[in-house]
Amino acid sequence: MGLRILSEKERQKNIDDNESNLIAQLQGVSKKFKSTKNESLHDINLEVYQEDFLSILGSSGCGKTTILKMMCGLIKSTAGKINWPTSNFQNSSENPANLSFVFQEPNLLPWMNVYDNIKLPLKIYKENSYKADENIYDIIKLVGLEGFEEYYPRQLSGGMSMRVSIARALVTQPKVLLMDEPFSALDETRRFDLSQEILKIKKEKKLTVVYVTHSIYESVFLSNRIYVMQSNPGKIFEEFDFSNQEKPEDYRFTPQFFEQTKIVSDSLKRAQNAE
Ligand SMILES: Nc1ncnc2c1ncn2[C@@H]1O[C@H](COP(=O)(O)OP(=O)(O)O)[C@@H](O)[C@H]1O
Ligand SMILES: [Mg+2]
Repeated sequence: MGLRILSEKERQKNIDDNESNLIAQLQGVSKKFKSTKNESLHDINLEVYQEDFLSILGSSGCGKTTILKMMCGLIKSTAGKINWPTSNFQNSSENPANLSFVFQEPNLLPWMNVYDNIKLPLKIYKENSYKADENIYDIIKLVGLEGFEEYYPRQLSGGMSMRVSIARALVTQPKVLLMDEPFSALDETRRFDLSQEILKIKKEKKLTVVYVTHSIYESVFLSNRIYVMQSNPGKIFEEFDFSNQEKPEDYRFTPQFFEQTKIVSDSLKRAQNAE
């Protein structure tokens, strides 16, 4: 079965059938910032299942970043609940490593080399609780930064800087990676390479990824589930699930990929017309 829009009933069935795999659930989450007149997000219902590659797709300003920030506790919702049903995945002060955030900009510290930038979270959290150096070298290898350990951010291309940023997010061995348009500043070929790579990393580390993007192609290529959003206020418009579909190695060049891109693109268009 290919990609399809989930009805409310199917969504509920998914929740019931996959309860034990449920990692995060947003229930009726709304957000109104003090400085704005209207709600920025309204009644967001969203599930994240274990080892999902879930994309939140929507145009600029629809509230994607705000959803991620609420999920990691950077900002508070004004209504609704965000549950992390499996306590293992709870991101608490005793267990800060379960969630990591990759921002749109690499945000590297210019006076630190690649190695020290990657190590930074371990310094901030309790370093002793991790096998620090061994782990760092594994991750450097995984993201393709071997040989660049001594480089400084100014010596790196945009793509390499983003690799450092991803490595820094992985160094605490998170289970869930929240990524906010991480490749949007990169040129097409770097985007291509890094999106392949993020799939490889996800598989190897058995990560659950929540990925925010405004790129239809990227969301279709990377995800098994997509939430399409509409704006003003930000709402979930439609949900796609293609978890039971094998994506071939050359998926990006298959007619299937183009068909599915069209389906998601139409959904986004309908979402925009509904605003
Ligand atoms: N700190 C804030 N204060 C006031 N309004 C905000 C704040 N952060 C975001 N917003 C508003 O919330 C809406 C969604 O923003 P955002 O989550 O950044 O959208 P996206 O990531 O989809 O581009 C926007 O209208 C934005 O102006
Ligand atoms: Mg954003």
